[in-house]
Amino acid sequence: MDIQAVDQFAQQLIKEAARRIRESFSYDLHVETKSSDSDLVTNVDRETELFFIEQIKTFDATHRILAEEGMGEQVTDLTGVVWVIDPIDGTMNFVKQHRHFMISVGVLVDGVGKLGYIFDVMREDLFHAIAGVGAWYNGTPLRKLENLTIEQSVIGINARWVTENKYVDYEQVSKLVRTVRGTRSYGSAAMEIAFVVSGKLDAYMSMRLAPWDIAGGVIIANEVGAVTSTLAGEPVQFLQSNTFIIANPSIHPILLDQYIHLLPRD
Ligand code: IPD
Ligand code: CA
Ligand code: CA
Ligand code: CA
Repeated sequence: MDIQAVDQFAQQLIKEAARRIRESFSYDLHVETKSSDSDLVTNVDRETELFFIEQIKTFDATHRILAEEGMGEQVTDLTGVVWVIDPIDGTMNFVKQHRHFMISVGVLVDGVGKLGYIFDVMREDLFHAIAGVGAWYNGTPLRKLENLTIEQSVIGINARWVTENKYVDYEQVSKLVRTVRGTRSYGSAAMEIAFVVSGKLDAYMSMRLAPWDIAGGVIIANEVGAVTSTLAGEPVQFLQSNTFIIANPSIHPILLDQYIHLLPRD
């Protein structure tokens, strides 16, 4: 695969997809729920995903696409070139706030992340990386993350973490909330990951994310030294959903060892 050519194509494609999403505010939005009342999808999520699939297949018909809304083919293995795409990450923000939602794209070759993109559709901010080459924010190189303590950290978690839940001991997380400098919750996993790789947050964690939420971000994380894993400390996978954490390398082990106590699963 010609990495430079795919990178150039991907950047143009993402910016064009974002332009179309912004334009969609001038026509009718159809909002539906999926697995629950808080799990939303719109015609624009689906249309954006289809746009990606058509354009990528025209660019190279051998490339395969694993995307949230299932408009493409079934992808059950990662051989060859696979694009992992979330056409709109933060659909609830898209519907309710008309801002704070991202396009997330990762390009894998034989399962290895090569190109990663997170694009803030309304701000037109691009975070991207080429594996082994570097990572950039709107063309400016992103620096390696600097060490800091838990007490100096600002972490991205949502309110569910401090309520009783089936994943973690919430009292330990409450202790973490009282220890850190601050907490934030933005409603788009890709945005929170983009903030960690650029040092605007020091960690972000989630009880359940899918490959399309994280693929682009994990590839960028590798270039700046941010550590990604499941909450059990295992490497992230690009074919199934799991728990997820991304953190500054100086606090990742402390978060997992001292504050995130996984509950036994039945
Ligand atoms: C969701 C957002 C949200 C996260 C959810 C994701 P979507 O993605 O990233 O912040 O908490 O787990 O599913 O559905 O808006 O693409
Ligand atoms: Ca969704
Ligand atoms: Ca998502
Ligand atoms: Ca989505």
